[in-house]
Amino acid sequence: MKGDMKSYQTLVNTYLKEALPKSTGDFKLLYEAMRYSLEAGGKRIRPILMQLAYEAVGGTEDIARYLCAIEMIHTYSLIHDDLPVMDNDDLRRGRPTNHIVFGEATAILAGDGLLNEAFEYMLEDAISHGGMERVRAAYVLSKASGTKGMIAGQILDMTSEGKNISFETLETIQRHKTGALITAATKMGAVLGLGSKSEIDALEAYGHYIGKVFQIIDDVLDEVSTDTVLGKPVKSDQKNHKNTYLSFYSVEECYQIADRLTVKALDVLKRINGDTELLADIAVTLAKRTN
Ligand code: IPE
Ligand code: IPE
Ligand code: MG
Ligand code: MG
Ligand code: MG
Repeated sequence: MKGDMKSYQTLVNTYLKEALPKSTGDFKLLYEAMRYSLEAGGKRIRPILMQLAYEAVGGTEDIARYLCAIEMIHTYSLIHDDLPVMDNDDLRRGRPTNHIVFGEATAILAGDGLLNEAFEYMLEDAISHGGMERVRAAYVLSKASGTKGMIAGQILDMTSEGKNISFETLETIQRHKTGALITAATKMGAVLGLGSKSEIDALEAYGHYIGKVFQIIDDVLDEVSTDTVLGKPVKSDQKNHKNTYLSFYSVEECYQIADRLTVKALDVLKRINGDTELLADIAVTLAKRTN
């Protein structure tokens, strides 16, 4: 596909609308709660990155199920992240959080539902398609979202609240809680598109750099933005005594670090022969993003 960022976002939203069944009888509440968060909007940055990485290595088939899967997992992580026992936030994607609308028990199950649905959705496709690269992509996502990735980051983030941690530990938190899924997005795209080892490595490295930028700016925006612009409550990190990049650097220094990482991300894209124009645009945009 050829298009701008907006058209990729629209494509992802169309796929997501079809991903979950509309009505499922006795289990209607579960699907309603899952849809509530999944269709609330959001930047869709992970599936967009996956599709762009896929195209950059020459992929031309339909990878909708993998795009939806990563967004389902990301959305589940947000539902759980917002729970009262975690960050205790009441606004997400401009709407009351899942537990505010459906109650905590249903929100937990909606998160669990999205997590499992993601793997069912991908593996159904991998089985019928038969391509080993599809199984491999699902494996990449399982590792990045699990106890060696996002979940590991979330527990370290939580147990570090109110503590004096080293900058190295902060980077470990970031690399797991946010970096892992963003890196998985670009790596999965490269794997699904049958990229060469060096292309997969380059796109993984690109994901690593922009993933870091992503969390640095997330931390900055939590401090300097507004609820309306962000669609989630600002000063949540302060409220929870979180360790963030602002525990170590000023807002201005954070932007400088983000710029330096962006240069590295752009540099690594030069190793790819295919079209990386939009991937480069995303890298630049992320360092300046306002929501
Ligand atoms: C927020 O992710 C959580 C982090 C990993 C920092 P996004 O900023 O991608 O949230 P949405 O999907 O756009 O709502
Ligand atoms: C959470 O990081 C990352 C996840 C794995 C959900 P944050 O707690 O900083 O994300 P926001 O700011 O609530 O979106
Ligand atoms: Mg959190
Ligand atoms: Mg949070
Ligand atoms: Mg945050």
